[in-house]
Formats: sequence, C-alpha cells, structure tokens
Amino acid sequence: MSDQGVPMEKIDTSRPHPARMYDYYLGGQDNYAVDREAAQEIIDTAPDVVVGARANRDFLRRAVCFLVESGVRQIIDIGTGIPTSPNTHEIAHSVSKDVRVAYVDNDPIVGAHAGAQLLGSGHTGFFLGDMRDPASILQHPTIGELIDFDQPVALLLVSVLHFVRDDEDPGGMIAAYRDALPAGSHLVISHGTADFHREKVDEVAEIYKKKGVTANFSARSHSEVLAFFDGFDLIEPGLVQVSLWRPDTELDPDEVVRTGVYGAIGRKRCTTIERGTA
Ligand SMILES: C[S@@+](CC[C@H](N)C(=O)[O-])C[C@H]1O[C@@H](n2cnc3c(N)ncnc32)[C@H](O)[C@@H]1O
Repeated sequence: MSDQGVPMEKIDTSRPHPARMYDYYLGGQDNYAVDREAAQEIIDTAPDVVVGARANRDFLRRAVCFLVESGVRQIIDIGTGIPTSPNTHEIAHSVSKDVRVAYVDNDPIVGAHAGAQLLGSGHTGFFLGDMRDPASILQHPTIGELIDFDQPVALLLVSVLHFVRDDEDPGGMIAAYRDALPAGSHLVISHGTADFHREKVDEVAEIYKKKGVTANFSARSHSEVLAFFDGFDLIEPGLVQVSLWRPDTELDPDEVVRTGVYGAIGRKRCTTIERGTA
C-alpha cells in the first residue's frame, strides 16, 4: 500500500500526473517525487501557476458558500480532483448540513483517493465518469440517489473545462447538462486563460508535453468562456478573474495581476413557454 492507503499496483509513479501536480501546487501531500519534480519545473518557469491554483480553490469556496446561502441544496461537482480540504461538501455543510453532493472525476487516481475524505457524510457520493458524455453522468445511479432534477441543482465545472478541446464541442456538452437542469439551477465555471500571460501559458504547455503529462490544456479567452453560459444569467460581478469574484478578504492587487483563471456563476433562465393556439 502507498502512504495514502491506495493499492500500489493501481498507481503509476513512473511519470508525473496532472491531478497530483495540482495537489502539489495546492501544498497537498498526495503526490510523488516524479510529480513534485515536474511541478517544480513548472513553478520555476511560471510561479503564477501556484497563485492561480490557490486563487481558484478559494473561488470554489466562495462560490459554494454563495450557492448554499442562496438556498441550493444539491450539487454535482465534476472534475473533483484529489480531495483537498475544505472539499465542496465540507464547505456546503459548514453552511447547511442537508446539502447533497455528487462528485465525478474520470481519473482512477482521484477515485483511489476519494474514499474516506469525500464519502464520510452520507449526503455525498463519488463515481468515475467522463464529463464529455453527459448522458452517462446524468443517468448514473449515484446521481439518481442524490439529485432530484425537479429541484434546482448547482453544476460545478471548476478548473476542468480547459481539459476539453474545441473539437470535442464543450459548448454542446454544457448545453446538454443545462437542458437537464430545471430553471433556477446554477452553473459554476472556472477556466484557465492566456489573456494575461500568453507566453507563460505556452511555456507551461511545452513542459507538460516534454514530461509526458497526459493532459490537453485549452486556455480560452474571456468571450469564449462567456459563451459557455448561454441560457444562464450571470450573477454579479459576472465573468472575472477568480480573485475578483466576490472577495471576502482584502484583495492583493499582485495576486489579481498574476491570476490567469476566469470564474463566474450563472443562473438558468426560465425558458419562454410558447403560447398554444386555441
Ligand atoms: C485541476 S483539477 C480541478 C479540481 C477541483 N475542481 C478544483 O478546482 O480544485 C481537474 C480535475 O478534472 C478532472 N478531469 C479532467 N478531464 C475530465 C473529464 N473529461 N471528465 C471528468 N473529470 C475530468 C481531472 O482528473 C482532475 O482531477
């Protein structure tokens, strides 16, 4: 067994892994020497990656607090990542104990770590699934147990959409989720961008490629990310760098400049019902 209690034979420690590298950026312990070495090379090249990862995580916290304080009681969190406290359900339950959270990730490494940390409460579930196949996610038995589609749902796609390439139609994918959710549901997105640091993003992508890290990264512009909210009204302040989204501590202007991640929450509009002809 590894020090995380995961069967060793399931863990490939011969090459760096994106979820474990992200864990390292966040100061976590669920990573191996090979991940730390690759992540450190990235940090040496673009220290802002750490600033962005931590700002993103803090956005997740504020977003979940906002949702639960607004009355949301069920959350689907796709692209969970290796558990990092406070996780979505811990944040939600700090506001209201009755929130149900379904976690989804397509990475068996995340699945191997999900156990005790994500499933402790009875109101949570985790399953392996690929967000690019909305039907298989929406029809999964764990979703059936935890989520009532007659009530508003919050769908979290936090720091995960940039792993979906344009030719995989991320807009169509989000529309499929949107159409399954009742009006009044919320969509939370955070997304990496090169709007502020084009060259650094290219350098980081180059290191990922060189190290054999298997993750496509599609940084997107403000207007491209905004288009994902089709059918949703944006909650104030709209789509902004995550540090600027309803900060609850004093803003560090240096952090804002260095954060290459956009974030927003949208609320699904009531669709217009066609008036029938008599
Ligand atoms: C950067 S982590 C984000 C973790 C967490 N949401 C956060 O913001 O702190 C991205 C996660 O998305 C997962 N992921 C990437 N592509 C995915 C897909 N097609 N379906 C489901 N999960 C995916 C990865 O395995 C990884 O755990």
